[in-house]
Amino acid sequence: MVQDAAGRGYHPGMRAAAIPPIDLGGDTRLLVMTGSGISAESGLATFRGAGGLWEGERVEAVATPEAFAADPARVWRFYGTRRAAAAVAVPNAAHLALAATEARLGDRFLLVTQNVDGLHAAAGSRHVIELHGSLWRSRCSRCRAAPVEDRSADVSPPLPTCPACDRPPARPALMRPDIVWFGESLNPASQEAVGQFIDDAALAGARLVFLAIGTSGNVWPAAGYVRYAAEAGAETWLANLDPALNEGWFDHVVAGPATQVVPALLGVT
Ligand code: APR
Repeated sequence: MVQDAAGRGYHPGMRAAAIPPIDLGGDTRLLVMTGSGISAESGLATFRGAGGLWEGERVEAVATPEAFAADPARVWRFYGTRRAAAAVAVPNAAHLALAATEARLGDRFLLVTQNVDGLHAAAGSRHVIELHGSLWRSRCSRCRAAPVEDRSADVSPPLPTCPACDRPPARPALMRPDIVWFGESLNPASQEAVGQFIDDAALAGARLVFLAIGTSGNVWPAAGYVRYAAEAGAETWLANLDPALNEGWFDHVVAGPATQVVPALLGVT
């Protein structure tokens, strides 16, 4: 193992088999947060970097409430394309290793994802907190009716409207993807669940491990969870292909593809 100046553990290019698993014994609690990098080897584009979604599209044009108000058909085209890609993607070894670890650790495990592709659930993960929503749901852009399951990839005009608040003479409200867009707040319940898991570990005096996988640390509040966990005494790990913006907050950084690194770190063979 090669230590950098700050004493952090680096494993650049190490053979997966040589990566020692994280100790998850005893009453150790494991909080995992994933980003789009975990789904890259399932054929789904990440956001930033070469070939990323934001390379082909301007965030402001497809992932803000203003963009939807200005050109809902364009926004639906963008999410329709993403639905079509995710519909044929299958979970990879990293998703499967997390599902196996959840089954092993039970309540000592919590999975939080920034991803909207549904691959964690498809891999068998039962309790996933979807911080940024889901591609597979739609909701009304006006009323607070519960989101509905929606797998249609071809969402072209006339765009779907909300059956709950379609009461003339009010203009029908459009349905929108149930995704948290830039400038919008996360569901407070998601944030509370993360905070509760960290606080419960501290209250129980249990060892807490925080593992971030496949995320560049660009987007808050998700990018800040490592600090919250570290301040609560957690041992923090980052498994990522490239250096991340919030890397300085991690005790251990493992550089490599998720399908190799994640099963090794979790001791899943
Ligand atoms: N294995 C591990 N990591 C990978 C792999 C791989 N096979 N492929 C790419 N990565 C890493 C990249 O090195 C990069 O640091 O995944 C990270 C993906 O970063 P981003 O593209 O910035 O995606 P993410 O961090 O998930 O974005 C966060 O931003 O656009 C918004 O709401 C969107 O949820 C998203 C949020």
